[in-house]
Amino acid sequence: MKFTVAIDGPAAAGKGTISKAVAAHFGFAHLDTGLLYRAVGARVAEGEDPVSAARTLKGDDLARSDLRTQAVADAASTVATNQQVRQALVEFQRGFAANEGGAVLDGRDIGTVICPDADAKLFVTARAEVRAERRWKELQAAGMEAEFDTVLAEVEARDARDAGRKDAPMRQAADAVLLDTSDLTIDEAIARAVAAIETAGGRAGG
Ligand code: CDP
Repeated sequence: MKFTVAIDGPAAAGKGTISKAVAAHFGFAHLDTGLLYRAVGARVAEGEDPVSAARTLKGDDLARSDLRTQAVADAASTVATNQQVRQALVEFQRGFAANEGGAVLDGRDIGTVICPDADAKLFVTARAEVRAERRWKELQAAGMEAEFDTVLAEVEARDARDAGRKDAPMRQAADAVLLDTSDLTIDEAIARAVAAIETAGGRAGG
């Protein structure tokens, strides 16, 4: 059975952690669509043309070890403003969403543009300081040194660019459930996401 879960929200809101956990809970496939933009951004940072990088994206590009750096995040949100880049990535995402066993896609425009008819939609957010602190800790844990204020500025700049772009801007779909994780533990946030998906008709096993 097809069952599509769309999870959108700003940078470092916890979408990735929540998406992986709900996918495991329901036995659905999971696609982190931010990785597609990060992989395009990484190739563009090496001098490639954005549109041709997006059109020739391969599995290997998604396995690169540098995709989680701040520099690549920034490059990703820059290429993500390009309409032809976004267009080149639509078909792959929609194909993934149609997976027979159920699918969870997380990103910025899943509930609004990629899967407007998704069965369940969540918009996961948190206060900017909380998100920056989580990202700062992730970077530290991965051995990437960064100043907290720099991380906060990067997160805020990227959100402004993502929400302000003309094509497929980041925004909460009218029918999405808002989940503010600022004052929730990871387990509480996952439990609320699971409950919202069950309310929308999601059942383990697709
Ligand atoms: O992990 P984090 O939330 O910081 O970012 P991400 O989900 O990996 O996305 C990186 C960048 O890709 C975002 O800042 C967006 O500019 C872009 N993106 C997008 O435009 N549309 C999506 N569906 C997913 C990501």
